[in-house]
Amino acid sequence: MIDRLLDSGLLGEDMVLVDLGAGDGYLSRAVAPKVDTVIAVDISGAMISELRKKAAREGLKNIQTVVSDGCDVPLGDGSVDIVCANMFLHHIEEPVTAVREMSRILRPGGKVFLADLTEHGNRELMEAMHDLWPGFSRKEIIRWFEKSGFRIEQFDTLARKSSGRKSGTKKDAGVFIMVAEKQ
Ligand SMILES: C[S@@+](CC[C@H](N)C(=O)[O-])C[C@H]1O[C@@H](n2cnc3c(N)ncnc32)[C@H](O)[C@@H]1O
Repeated sequence: MIDRLLDSGLLGEDMVLVDLGAGDGYLSRAVAPKVDTVIAVDISGAMISELRKKAAREGLKNIQTVVSDGCDVPLGDGSVDIVCANMFLHHIEEPVTAVREMSRILRPGGKVFLADLTEHGNRELMEAMHDLWPGFSRKEIIRWFEKSGFRIEQFDTLARKSSGRKSGTKKDAGVFIMVAEKQ
């Protein structure tokens, strides 16, 4: 996923990039050397502390952190160039509110890079990961983004990700990557 983002041609050294649901900064720390500023947003103060520790250890100085709900981010309208969200959306009760917020903070022509789970129907995996959504269909993701003013540029499904458990007949989750442009 990170390689896909780094090779995508989406990143520029003058850009402000927001990482929604940044966690310990897996994505933020990887992209920081490629952009001007990363704004890492997470609802968990503990995750943001972890991110700050890891970023400091790696000598990364251009990551700003914000403890906030990703559906209501303290950033101005049209203020950022790119929004990334890796494995964030399936933790959100109403994903469409997060999609609208991405649209609000992005400048026209700005991009979303979204990676999340395809529909998997594996309740065991959902419970183990505290997920609110059992992945998403391509159709619903595209509908939400188009309704929020995006043009879909790319939607790819990647190899399945194992839950790490013996799941018998249950399906493990696949991952999709979507790139969309704010109109
Ligand atoms: C599965 S982790 C993904 C972390 C990171 N993006 C990565 O790729 O490693 C999901 C993250 O979303 C955060 N999160 C959940 N609900 C959120 C919300 N409403 N607003 C912001 N962050 C949220 C969690 O605290 C957690 O750090």
